[in-house]
Amino acid sequence: MKRHLISAADLTRDDAVLILDTAEEMARVADRPIKKLPTLRGRTVVNLFFEDSTRTRISFEAAAKRLSADVINFSAKGSSVSKGESLKDTALTLEAMGADAVVIRHHASGAPYRLANSGWIDGAVVNAGDGTHEHPTQALLDAFTVRRRLVGRDAGLGRDLEGRRITVVGDILHSRVARSNVLLLNTLGAHVTLVAPPTLVPVGVENWPCEVSYDLDAVLPKSDAVMMLRVQSERMNAAFFPTEREYSRRYGLDGDRMARMPEHAVVMHPGPMNRGMEITAEVADSDRCTVVEQVANGVSIRMAVLYLLLGGAEPAVTTASARTEETK
Ligand code: NCD
Repeated sequence: MKRHLISAADLTRDDAVLILDTAEEMARVADRPIKKLPTLRGRTVVNLFFEDSTRTRISFEAAAKRLSADVINFSAKGSSVSKGESLKDTALTLEAMGADAVVIRHHASGAPYRLANSGWIDGAVVNAGDGTHEHPTQALLDAFTVRRRLVGRDAGLGRDLEGRRITVVGDILHSRVARSNVLLLNTLGAHVTLVAPPTLVPVGVENWPCEVSYDLDAVLPKSDAVMMLRVQSERMNAAFFPTEREYSRRYGLDGDRMARMPEHAVVMHPGPMNRGMEITAEVADSDRCTVVEQVANGVSIRMAVLYLLLGGAEPAVTTASARTEETK
């Protein structure tokens, strides 16, 4: 595996499968009465968040704490960034405090890449979402969720997503989640179809390893998983569709549309959801919707990523037999 995780394209199929399998071990720890592992004791993980976040920040924090790392949470609001401090000076400050890993979310696409390749810090850099570019740990937790739902917990061998059909619907143009998912799912052998109004499909999409459709109803019966995306109004500087009502009529998922999906197919959403816009409450609250599972799985995935980037050679989860070996 590479030293940093900036893009889903950084991962080979073997890397991705290793992360998913390690996350499965981490998820077992969450079922224990004591959910903590000593693996990253004495290491420092900094969460550097320049953009709003609920799930991702808390998830990285929980993951680092479950591995016994020290966690420093930094959010741009209320910091010296509001006084005009640059990314470089913030990075040098973190380095001076001995950060072993920096988890960064930034409104500028490319900020994590800059941090990883600048020489400002020595630690591993993990991209937790940069502008409209990428969000690799979200794609990993999404793949983990689909694998668990469609194949089961004893999945393995790395071919579980081979040939599965995943449909990603909505604001593809502004979505780092869509970009990372297309790359990772393709690496894992799945077929991805993007569905969006033509105005929300990025230029150059023909070079992405996926198909594009404008007809949601036609794609739904052929999908094993349907991932609904939020319309990212905060990144929109123009009118991309006539009205919200029009958008949800054509591209929103309601109960009737969900009924067109095969019985085994699941509905996913990275959150935050706009109920009534891209997804109705009926669908969001149904058993087929994995939104809450995705959050739980996110902690296991981020534990796996932090462990694999920082943990070195020691086994992540000490089994009973390994403990007996140690005391011999
Ligand atoms: C996404 C993000 O921030 O890119 N959310 C997340 O990380 N769970 C998607 C979004 O904001 O709509």
